[in-house]
Order: sequence, then structure tokens, then C-alpha cells
Amino acid sequence: MDLQGRSILLAVTGGVAAYKSAELCRLLVKAGAQVQVVLTESASRFVGAATFQALSGKAVFTDLWDARVPNTMAHIELARAADLIVVAPATAHTLARAAQGLADDLLSTLLLAAGKPVLFAPAMNREMWLHPATQRNMATLRADGARICGPASGEQACGEVGEGRLVEPEDLLQDIVAALTASCLEGRTVLVTAGPTFEPIDPVRGLTNRSSGKMGYAVARAAREAGARVLLVSGPTALAAPFGVECIAVESAQQMFDAVMARAAQAQVFIATAAVADWRPAQVLAQKQKKTPDALPPPIALQTNPDILAAVAALPQAPFCVGFAAESENLLQHASAKRLRKGVPLLVGNLGPETFGRDDNRLELFDASGHQSLGAGSKIDLARKLVAHIAQRLPVSDTPLQSPPGA
Ligand code: C5P
Repeated sequence: MDLQGRSILLAVTGGVAAYKSAELCRLLVKAGAQVQVVLTESASRFVGAATFQALSGKAVFTDLWDARVPNTMAHIELARAADLIVVAPATAHTLARAAQGLADDLLSTLLLAAGKPVLFAPAMNREMWLHPATQRNMATLRADGARICGPASGEQACGEVGEGRLVEPEDLLQDIVAALTASCLEGRTVLVTAGPTFEPIDPVRGLTNRSSGKMGYAVARAAREAGARVLLVSGPTALAAPFGVECIAVESAQQMFDAVMARAAQAQVFIATAAVADWRPAQVLAQKQKKTPDALPPPIALQTNPDILAAVAALPQAPFCVGFAAESENLLQHASAKRLRKGVPLLVGNLGPETFGRDDNRLELFDASGHQSLGAGSKIDLARKLVAHIAQRLPVSDTPLQSPPGA
């Protein structure tokens, strides 16, 4: 479980999005966290303390003078016990108070006493969000070291459409995990390819494969959790982009090649998990191919696609390149040979294609010093191990080029 043994103080303030914090509370508990909820006076008008108490399994605090804390210093005790303080939703009012350092209720006092990371998830009407006063307060909070998640864009409870929605609870959970993860890739940009490619034959047909993209999306998510700026170039998949990752959607291998080559110079790490089609139809028909009267299938002439991984690895200032190999037999020999053929320092092998579409995998690492197993597990756990392994192998002299997400 992603948050096993972690203590989260979930502070809920008075916006209509407070109802989504109940779901966030449930997800945090499901992820293994101990959750202590603090409600502001106005939050409790939107969602009652009983809901949060039932979901977290702990009594909720709202009052600075709560008699349940023997030394009457609830703000200190609660702040001390937490690994991370999450304010979701954070109203314009709460953000302004936090930026000013006011201390006249439980939450504001607790934020001053925290001495530890605070993650704010703003939620408000779009005009309130765009107001220069709110933006000034956000700049102050960022400069003070707060982590800001969102807001998202879309339909708002007030009927307007724009920026100011609370980030969805599942995405907030990802950002909370990231906030608590050791930032071994902070300051780095990681470029990832994922999913299958689709090679058109005509406007309705094409050649593709059974890659789900799950391993690549897990790698992108793990890299972002580790503090990297992540660019995910993805073929067609049914997956939602991991939160905080820049996703570039492509279809064909040639489009994936172009998208990767346009961004390779920004990256210190390139991880090629995509199942790129080796060949494409030499000609794409402008109209749907008709059946012939004799019903004989038409021949499809193929031409070779560019090898994206080998091309990036051959760049003069190549990022640290990691290839993936799905082999159906003789993984050890084939993967070692493939690493040399592609010219990459690290190749990750798995026995495919039976891992396609599954949530678990087994990864083997091949580098110049030989072979090492990462073992079996869920794709996200293996992706985290892989990211930690890659981070250790990056040249320390690399000057970080990018600011970490949320900075
Ligand atoms: O050549 P093969 O498909 O066996 O190698 C697999 C590795 O090479 C994967 O990392 C895959 O993403 C990458 N690859 C690529 N471009 C291709 C073919 C494979 O980047 N055209």
C-alpha cells in the first residue's frame, strides 16, 4: 500500500468541494495512511464531522480549545503527529490567511506550528482564483515552500467553466504519494514512450499490437513521484495520463519518433517502454480498401519503422537510455544482445507477451556488469524500483535543468 505507516493531517475548509474530501479521506485510508481530519467552522457546514469520523476512524478536530487534548495545545499535537498536512479544498480565504500567517483558529495556528510540508489543493470560483490578490497569496505560499496541487479546469459548482475546480481525489492521492516520496529525480526531465503504435492501412484499418501501456504509464507516474518533470509520449491506450505528467498523444511509430526527437534534448533520462511496430504499410490508402469481386485479400507491402530508442541513444548528447524487451523465450541471451544492439546502458527484460494488459510483471535488468532481478510485483511497485535504480546511475555532475513540479 502506497501510504502504509504514513500519517496525513487532512484539513478541510469551507467550499462546496468539501464533499470530494470525504472521498479523498477514504482513498487515503485505503492506501494505508492514518488520517486525522481537521475541519474549519465553515467546512462543517458543507460536510459533517460524523462523515469524516466514520471514514477515518478517528474523532475530528475543529476547535483550537478542544478539551480532548490534555495540554490544550491541539494545534501543536496534531501538527507534530503528521508526516504531511493536506489542505483540500483550500478556499481563497484559507490561502490568504495562510499567506499572511494569521493564527486565530485551529487550522491557521496548526499551519504556523507545522514545521513540515504543507500541500494546498485550491478550489474556488474561477474569478476568485484569477484575482490578483489570490495569485499574490499563491506566490507567497510557493515561496514559503508549500506544495500546490491544482486547481483543475472544468465545470464549476457556480455554473461557470474555468480554472478553480478541486483536483479529483484520485489525482490528489497521486500527488500526496509524490510529496512523501524521496525526490531522487528532482530537477531532471524524464522522457517516456508507452503503449502500442497504430500503423494505418487506410482510413479505417491499421496494424497494431496488444500493449496496454500500463508499464509505461507506471514508469511515468513513478518518475513524477520521484520529483522529475515527465514527458510521456503515448500511443493509443485506454489509460488516463498520470497526474502531473505532460502527455503527448501519438498514433504511428513515425509520429512517436518525431515527438521523441523533438524533446530528447530536454531529457536527462529516456525510458522506451512503447511496443513500437517494426513495420508499417508502405502506402496508406486515402479511401477504405474495397473487397475485390474475387474476394482475394490484397497484398500489404511493408516498410521498416525508425528505431526510436537506437536513434536517441546515438545522439551526441544522449540522455541515459533505458530500453524494454518483451521476449517469449531465452530472455537472458536475447536481452543482453538487444542492449548491445541498441547501444543503451540499461535494458529491462520481461517475459512477454503474457504481461500485456496485466497489473503485475517481473523485471530483469541487464547492464554492462551483467544481470540483476527486480523480482515480481505490481507494475507501479516495479516502476518505483526501476526509477530508484536509474537515479543511482545518473551522472552526479549533471546540472539539474528544470524546476521540480509544483515549485
Ligand atoms: O527492437 P525491439 O522492439 O525488440 O526493442 C524493444 C525496445 O526498443 C523497447 O524499448 C522499444 O520501446 C524500443 N523500440 C523503439 N523503436 C522501435 C522499436 C523498438 O524505440 N522502432
